Amino acid sequence: MLNLSLNIDNTKPFVSDEELNGLQGEIGRLHEVLEKGQGLGHDYLGWLHLPSHIEEAEIAAIEETASAIRAQCDAFVVIGIGGSYLGARAAINFCQPLLGEKKGSSEIFYAGHNISGDYLSDLLDALRGKRVCLNVISKSGTTTEPAIAFRILKEALEKDVGVEEARKRIVATTDEKKGALKQLADAEGYKTFVIPDDVGGRYSVLTPVGLLPIAVAGIDVRRLLQGARDEEAQTTASPDLKHNTAYRYAAVRHLLYLQGKTTEVMASFHPSLQYVVEWWKQLTGESEGKNHRGLFPASVEYTTDLHSMGQWMQEGQRTIFETFLRVGHSNRDLQIPQSEDDRDGLNYLAGRNLDHVNEKAYEGTAQAHLAGGVPNMTLTLKNRDPETLGQLFYFFERAIALSGYLLHVNPFDQPGVEFYKKNMFQLLNKPGYEKR
Ligand code: PA5
Repeated sequence: MLNLSLNIDNTKPFVSDEELNGLQGEIGRLHEVLEKGQGLGHDYLGWLHLPSHIEEAEIAAIEETASAIRAQCDAFVVIGIGGSYLGARAAINFCQPLLGEKKGSSEIFYAGHNISGDYLSDLLDALRGKRVCLNVISKSGTTTEPAIAFRILKEALEKDVGVEEARKRIVATTDEKKGALKQLADAEGYKTFVIPDDVGGRYSVLTPVGLLPIAVAGIDVRRLLQGARDEEAQTTASPDLKHNTAYRYAAVRHLLYLQGKTTEVMASFHPSLQYVVEWWKQLTGESEGKNHRGLFPASVEYTTDLHSMGQWMQEGQRTIFETFLRVGHSNRDLQIPQSEDDRDGLNYLAGRNLDHVNEKAYEGTAQAHLAGGVPNMTLTLKNRDPETLGQLFYFFERAIALSGYLLHVNPFDQPGVEFYKKNMFQLLNKPGYEKR
């Protein structure tokens, strides 16, 4: 574990070492099943050794396209939903400055992740006068939300710069052969990147789905991949819970789930983690929530939410456990100054850094919630850098895949997501879906 560490001490009153060791045999067996591609959903294991197998030519093509986009456009719109957008947003928010100008990056916007006329109208307003590039991302190539957003944004771009120039400013990331988006991209002559057949949406952040927008944002995708590669090596080497932290995390959360702790609250202690947690929620919810099983993945952002959800966490229903997600070192720490009159009574903190205060807030919260009957564990990210994030992405992918197998569900499909679509299409009279 180079940049990530997991502390499970505050789960010990609930999960004993004996129980944990008791799961080792099953985890060893499931590790083999995963590695040998013998489990449920084994056609979707392309993510498993993707960091070590991604080709140099692919990385170079992504970097080249990203630098051309940065030169050509000052606004870059990522159009996608679910796994076709959350990973990129997570990485960009984690690595870039939280406010103000982002140097070396086109300004990044997002579309196609909701169905709101207000959002898209405001986005069109925000893009006016800017040199715009679009990246439409859809594995199926048929998802309604990004398809609508793309149609509207494409039309606006064509009106602005003409059809020929618009074609040069659109990149499509989609299936190699099938889907409406692939056909459209071929017909229009857009530059395309391929989403591998054997990688599902929520496991696709380290494919061009995530890597191209991340590179356009000026983030070093090689460092991101290096972190993921380190974690891949570590988790592939051995299923031993003493060494394999991803499996240790999976084992503890599974044992807590079996005790009726049916909600996992991911509690982050840094604002840059907001979309990392959203990405984790998708990964977890879509992978595990099947056959009436699976932890409910919830989230809070501390210390902000200690002043809203903190009450519930301390004294509400005891059906939860917490996983704290921390950043060890801020990129830009600040010191609290001494004040002559000390009217705000803060001189006892003078000379202390904000990281120090945040750390004490975390420690105090972890102890309080444990005392209140909430088992908790802590994942600490050493730094806010691409290597650490790459490691974290892979850590969760590996842990959640194994968690799905522990629940005897297929972690790589999402049949439940289709249900709302069928109803919506019927209500919208989509050809082929008319109400009988
Ligand atoms: O994880 C998944 O498979 C989903 O969240 C998809 O990523 C999401 O529904 C978007 O699908 P598509 O990329 O086909 O447009």
